[in-house]
Amino acid sequence: MTKFPTERAEAAGADGPALSAGEFREISRMAYEYAGLDLGENKTQLVLARLGKKLREMQIPTFSEYCRRVREDRTGESMVAMIDALTTNHTSFLREGAHFDFLSRVVLPELAGRTQVAIWSAACSTGEEPYSIVFTALEAMGLDGMRKLRVLATDISTKALGKAAQAVYPMERMKGMRQDWMSRYLMRGTGRWEGHCQVKKKVRDLVEFRRQNLMESFSHLGPFQVIFCRNVMIYFDRETQQDLVRRLAGRLEPGGYLFTGHAESLNGLDQPLQYVQPATYRKAGEGGAERRRKTV
Ligand SMILES: C[S@@+](CC[C@H](N)C(=O)[O-])C[C@H]1O[C@@H](n2cnc3c(N)ncnc32)[C@H](O)[C@@H]1O
Repeated sequence: MTKFPTERAEAAGADGPALSAGEFREISRMAYEYAGLDLGENKTQLVLARLGKKLREMQIPTFSEYCRRVREDRTGESMVAMIDALTTNHTSFLREGAHFDFLSRVVLPELAGRTQVAIWSAACSTGEEPYSIVFTALEAMGLDGMRKLRVLATDISTKALGKAAQAVYPMERMKGMRQDWMSRYLMRGTGRWEGHCQVKKKVRDLVEFRRQNLMESFSHLGPFQVIFCRNVMIYFDRETQQDLVRRLAGRLEPGGYLFTGHAESLNGLDQPLQYVQPATYRKAGEGGAERRRKTV
């Protein structure tokens, strides 16, 4: 007898559980409500591949059972692990180098008279972004940087934050890093850490890592002179992006800068920041006011 395909047969992994349309809707609803992730129908295969692997590891027979466990886990860790599996932590040192160049050529000289420089790396992943900010700032500010610089680095992923705080990276991740920066800011591992390096403690101490879901209120943070929020808005729909950019703008000082990923234009969003150059926006106002007052 010919069998008609049921809903459950809509998407099936090679040797894992099938994902029904209803289960996919439930997962995308949870991911949207919790972390703002926009999982359109075209993400069915991604969900199946990424979460199917998890189900096999955890020996959970169906996606419905998996959803139930995520919903009922009061610690919230299962939800965070699900978001982790659905997003990528891909990042690198000095990624999208134009931002670091602009930071050292334009932004930090503007802030030279400040007693403190506060920078937020929102969605910092495994730490390469905030450490790149510190390397760049210490080069531009010299010894002053050690006293004045404060970098807050946040992410939704506890796993990524754990790696970020440990600050141990395989040497191949350092390709292209200047040799003098390597010796100033990194230590080479020996023995079981051969082939790895660790960011020096003096740099690590300038970064505070905290967990922050960008969908939750962050009105207690800042204000900041610079916010890096890069390569995370690609996961959000336009409405969520607009709301997030408005709230980020609220945490910037007048004259402060927001850096977004180069694939994340704010074009067409109703938000208060002014365009400066690709993926670089500025809040209106007197950024250098404090400096000018002090030097008069
Ligand atoms: C591709 S990485 C970007 C890392 C770094 N900003 C960069 O540009 O290289 C995206 C990061 O966004 C984080 N993320 C996803 N949704 C988030 C949310 N709702 N709140 C905070 N972080 C989130 C992920 O955990 C991941 O570490």
